[in-house]
Amino acid sequence: MGWSLRVCSASPDATRELAARLAGVARRGDVIVLRGPLGAGKTTFAQGFARGLGVGGPVTSPTFTLVRQYPCALGQLVHVDVYRLDRLAEVADLGLADLVEDGVALVEWGDVARPALGAVTWTVSIDGPGGGDDDRVVTVSGEDETRRGEVAAALGAR
Ligand SMILES: Nc1ncnc2c1ncn2[C@@H]1O[C@H](COP(=O)(O)OP(=O)(O)O)[C@@H](O)[C@H]1O
Ligand SMILES: [Mg+2]
Repeated sequence: MGWSLRVCSASPDATRELAARLAGVARRGDVIVLRGPLGAGKTTFAQGFARGLGVGGPVTSPTFTLVRQYPCALGQLVHVDVYRLDRLAEVADLGLADLVEDGVALVEWGDVARPALGAVTWTVSIDGPGGGDDDRVVTVSGEDETRRGEVAAALGAR
């Protein structure tokens, strides 16, 4: 059946903050799909998530490199952006399943990549009114009922 939790963000820093809190309950092997239109805040979310895992340096969009990896508290953080890939075979070529074995993966535009990803731990959807407004609605959903409580506590959601 699955569950979903919704929180609001009023600024880029608020999005980074809630992402950092979610990172606090992430585990090695987790795969997180980030959804939302261009400019929604997926990379901004990834920046906060990385900080929450102790990544010190800057986290920039992997749009052109497809994959960036950062050493982190859980092994390595694998940050992927599949926006430019137009064939599922190209996503499969990235070998995400192997990459995530010793770390955590964040996949922007991950909906397209789902068949190549294997099990997805959480899906983070970022929606907003757009048009220069900073308000976003961030919905975290997952299947594993046993992990709902810790995510709710981390996000301060019910
Ligand atoms: N509440 C918010 N959360 C995240 N980003 C926001 C928010 N409000 C404004 N922004 C801005 O929206 C843009 C999001 O860009 P980015 O994270 O690269 O999006 P995406 O990776 O989804 O294309 C940034 O310029 C960021 O400063
Ligand atoms: Mg991005």
